[in-house]
Amino acid sequence: MTFPHLMLFLHLVGVVVWVGGMAFAYLCLRPAATALPPAQRLPLWAAVFARFFPLVWTSVALIAASGVAMLVDTGFARAPVAWHVMLVTGFVMIAVFVWIWAGPWRALQAAVAGENWAGGAVALNLIRQRVAFNLALGFVTIAIATLGLGL
Ligand code: HEM
Repeated sequence: MTFPHLMLFLHLVGVVVWVGGMAFAYLCLRPAATALPPAQRLPLWAAVFARFFPLVWTSVALIAASGVAMLVDTGFARAPVAWHVMLVTGFVMIAVFVWIWAGPWRALQAAVAGENWAGGAVALNLIRQRVAFNLALGFVTIAIATLGLGL
């Protein structure tokens, strides 16, 4: 490959923005925002995701394109098992993100536009659960990528 370091750089930029953003949202913003009433909390989250999700789409494109490029360059047969596992966990994370984006994210936007706070809280809770799953799988994937975990 002509620019192997560039591929790894782009891969890790995507990982940092996506997993780091989820960690900030889940571990810092969420506990702080629970103090707000729904009429303020739900529009705040809608405004946060309206900025974060385009960054996630960019990160997903960078991670998938650079990851597959590095894998193809080494060759699937010669690549360590950990890389194959990363391919699977990475695409599971991407599928969960698309599931958030196409489902509860649309529902949250509609609920906020209609000032339907009960419906918005249900949608936000679904987003929270799926982000928690992706955050955990993101840490597992980083551990597999860097530690190998015997794979
Ligand atoms: C979408 C499918 C993915 C594929 C095909 C893929 C593939 C790869 C490949 C081939 C490498 C190069 C390993 C090396 O040169 O040592 C790599 C590195 C890495 N990947 Fe992925 N990856 C994917 C998704 C992810 C995701 C979702 C994460 C984190 C949440 C992640 C985290 C990492 C890390 C931290 C490294 C650096 C490992 C190191 O250099 O020690 N990858 N990935």
